[in-house]
Amino acid sequence: MTPHIEANKEDIAKTVIMPGDPLRAKFIAENYLEDAKLVNQVRGMFAYTGMYKDHRVTVMGSGMGMPSIGIYSYELYKEYDVDQIIRIGTAGAYTKDLNLYDLLLVQKCFSESSYGRSQNGSEEMMKESDFSLNFHIQEAASELGKHLTIATIHSSDVFYKENDNFQELYQKYGCLACEMESFALFHNAKVLGKKAACLLTISDNLVTKEETTSIERQTALKDMIELALETVLKL
Ligand code: HPA
Repeated sequence: MTPHIEANKEDIAKTVIMPGDPLRAKFIAENYLEDAKLVNQVRGMFAYTGMYKDHRVTVMGSGMGMPSIGIYSYELYKEYDVDQIIRIGTAGAYTKDLNLYDLLLVQKCFSESSYGRSQNGSEEMMKESDFSLNFHIQEAASELGKHLTIATIHSSDVFYKENDNFQELYQKYGCLACEMESFALFHNAKVLGKKAACLLTISDNLVTKEETTSIERQTALKDMIELALETVLKL
């Protein structure tokens, strides 16, 4: 047990799929896993471990933002010996060239966050996901016929901004979209010698102002869930 996770060590699988929303973890467990067992409910951050086509996997919510995913991913890697975490989330597009529901595989993420500096003095503002994990995700995507955009994205600490400088981040760093968690996840994986990847579905577009409804999102996210689960079979 850790301060934030009540599961026994053996109750967590080596691979964790991590949506932001704990209710999405519940949805995945109930709709895709066999013999799913609820292994954490501290602070309502549900984690379930079960079988997907004979492969053991844990699905657990990360909460929103870097402090939250930073806590859960650190404890999973360090105290539960998790080898890899695949985050699945939504993102706001910084370019009109991305459509709602496009699926991104995050190769790099830029952030102005102090997460790395506070955690271990790292001044890096660009973090990378794991090459081999990304390879398996791309392999699974091509077998499923799902198109992936390989992307650099922006991990932000702030959702509601008085002055959004997203055009500058798009031009200067090539950030195609924004979310709020990858940077801390990739940092923790690097510090602890583990693997992390991130799949994102575009839920809104900051240029065109298009947005999805939560009902529509539920269906669209199925593509991303299935891709993450099929990737587990390759690990
Ligand atoms: N900003 C940050 N995180 C997000 C967004 C956004 O516009 N859309 C979905 N997650």
